[in-house]
Amino acid sequence: MADTTFGPKGWTPERLGDQSGKSYVITGANAGAGYQAARILLKKNAKVVMLNRSTEKSEAAIADLKQEFGENSDVSFVRVDLSVLDSVREAAEEVLKMVPRIDGLINNAAIAQVPTRKLTDDGFESQLGTNHYGHFLLNGLLFDRIAESKGRIVVVASLGYNMGLKTIKFDDMNWDEGYGANTAYSQSKLAQMMFAYELQDRLAAAGRKDVEVFVCHPGSSATSLITTSGSRTMRFIWWLMTKTPMVQTAEQGSYPEVMCATEAALTEQRALYGPTGRMEAVGPVGKGTLNAHAYDKAVMSRLWDVSEKAVEFEWTL
Ligand SMILES: NC(=O)c1ccc[n+]([C@@H]2O[C@H](COP(=O)([O-])OP(=O)(O)OC[C@H]3O[C@@H](n4cnc5c(N)ncnc54)[C@H](OP(=O)(O)O)[C@@H]3O)[C@@H](O)[C@H]2O)c1
Repeated sequence: MADTTFGPKGWTPERLGDQSGKSYVITGANAGAGYQAARILLKKNAKVVMLNRSTEKSEAAIADLKQEFGENSDVSFVRVDLSVLDSVREAAEEVLKMVPRIDGLINNAAIAQVPTRKLTDDGFESQLGTNHYGHFLLNGLLFDRIAESKGRIVVVASLGYNMGLKTIKFDDMNWDEGYGANTAYSQSKLAQMMFAYELQDRLAAAGRKDVEVFVCHPGSSATSLITTSGSRTMRFIWWLMTKTPMVQTAEQGSYPEVMCATEAALTEQRALYGPTGRMEAVGPVGKGTLNAHAYDKAVMSRLWDVSEKAVEFEWTL
């Protein structure tokens, strides 16, 4: 049954109070759901630091945001390419210099449906490298600042975690065998969810309550995700879908991540938040269905160890 915590319309930004003094760091905020999340937060006077890979697109996004919310709106960007670990290290250093508090780190950026197998500079399959390993390292490097701020970590996942293998292919993390655009994407999003749920466990084991970790997804939202990295066929299918009620706007797609970063009434962390309407792909935002393979303890704790080795960073909690 659909979650009714926030009434029949679900969670909407109408619930969001003034955010003056609060700072949010959002990856991939020059487009799509990340951009819309930045808009909603800026409208309520938050400070927003976007972590984007394109200087040109970031400058254009900032110009648009300043036009909408005024020259004094507090929006800036730090360049990061999440597919390059050195870039993540440099960006984290920059963020620590310029952002004294982080009330929310929204792990929003992603590539999806990459048609042919590619490896990142660090030698990882591109979707796993960008979506999971890049964020895993970034969160580790920013964690203490988030903790000092009693902040939140938000992972933007995907219902794709229910597709593909539904577990981690530890014997072939880079898909030397059997690569499929959707299978590899699904696994990268499952890995991101497992990072979040394992982090919840590790925080609980350390007796820490200073950081909350939430997982959400935008449902099916009309963003540039498929246009950026999908094949021509996928782009066409997606374009057709966006003409139907099966796909909602990018702005609606941003509500779950803004809710997870800000909503005080949200207390249940071992959950998946997102649209609760048709197939949980559109509709009022609340708590959705979370299937147990996303928090399979043996798999997620092993993935944590594998990830620490891969990015050469050990978390201390
Ligand atoms: N849209 C959907 O229906 C849907 C469904 C399920 C899950 N999601 C999830 O929702 C989140 C937001 O995606 P979206 O749909 O809003 O897609 P989007 O419009 O393509 O936005 C993705 C953002 O990530 C950035 N990005 C990609 N690769 C990057 C890298 N290597 N380093 C830094 N930033 C990078 C993009 O930058 P550029 O502009 O430079 O490409 C863009 O700003 C993603 O986590 C996605 O998996 C979306």
